[in-house]
Amino acid sequence: MDSVTTAAELRTRIAAWRRDGARIGFVPTMGNLHQGHFSLIELCRRQADRVVASVFVNPTQFGPNEDFARYPRTLAQDQAGLAAHGCDLLFAPAVEEMYPFGIGQTVRVEVPVVSAPLEGERRPGHFAGVATVVTKLLNLVRPDVAVFGRKDYQQLLVIERLARDLRLPVEIVGAPIVREANGLAMSSRNQYLSAEERERAGLIHSVLLGMQDEANAGAAVAEIERLAYNALEAAGFVVDYAVVRSAQTLLEPAAGQRDALVALVAARLGKTRLIDNIEIDPDAPVQSLFERDHASATNSRTDL
Ligand code: PAF
Repeated sequence: MDSVTTAAELRTRIAAWRRDGARIGFVPTMGNLHQGHFSLIELCRRQADRVVASVFVNPTQFGPNEDFARYPRTLAQDQAGLAAHGCDLLFAPAVEEMYPFGIGQTVRVEVPVVSAPLEGERRPGHFAGVATVVTKLLNLVRPDVAVFGRKDYQQLLVIERLARDLRLPVEIVGAPIVREANGLAMSSRNQYLSAEERERAGLIHSVLLGMQDEANAGAAVAEIERLAYNALEAAGFVVDYAVVRSAQTLLEPAAGQRDALVALVAARLGKTRLIDNIEIDPDAPVQSLFERDHASATNSRTDL
């Protein structure tokens, strides 16, 4: 696997593949790669002849009190991991390459509505930073297919919307969440957790499974959210949100709505902010609350 740092080198390499008729796949990342990222590379590999990855810690998506400076940067390790998982080319630009006029003068891409709730409320400007850098990267690589993780569910919706609205000729693919043995969704930020917090953080997934069960059993959304919030707070999390939303719009579902739903959680454990979600299939078999209570001893769901 080769690595390039400039837009010019990147374009030259990709142009040669295109001339050979190759289908180009792309996986953008901020580095500090783990099995979750490698699963994106492997999925991309199955959908493309050539796989390009980027490693760029994007300053414009971090708020002033967020972890941009201490975000883990592990380029040599990332290169080895990408090569081992079938990546053909790494693009690892400097900030000046991505923001040639400086961050203050960059053209910004805003995706209204879907960026507004949840993460958008708690992290002002975050999705404009993501949308801006993803648009730049897609414009540089011009991939046929680009793969993003479903753990950042709202980010995926924002990127799908920007690609459709800007008429970018790229297929956006959402890859399944990869979890640790205790259910904790893999994330570069998990390394900020102590060993005890890491174990306790598995509760988020159990709570999400419980929310899914309650939704499929027909419980009221407000009640599902209240119970999830309480379960997390009781275990020492500081909860930003624990909500059930329409899977396509992230709006609160209307009573009796049969659209697909998603349950989303953002919570702090110590100094670490974790996000996770579960997509709720409205056609999944409904397990009644009574049955679920009796089955709970044999599965890992958290009784809400
Ligand atoms: O999900 C990420 O790692 C980042 O938000 C992304 C999509 C690479 C943009 O910087």
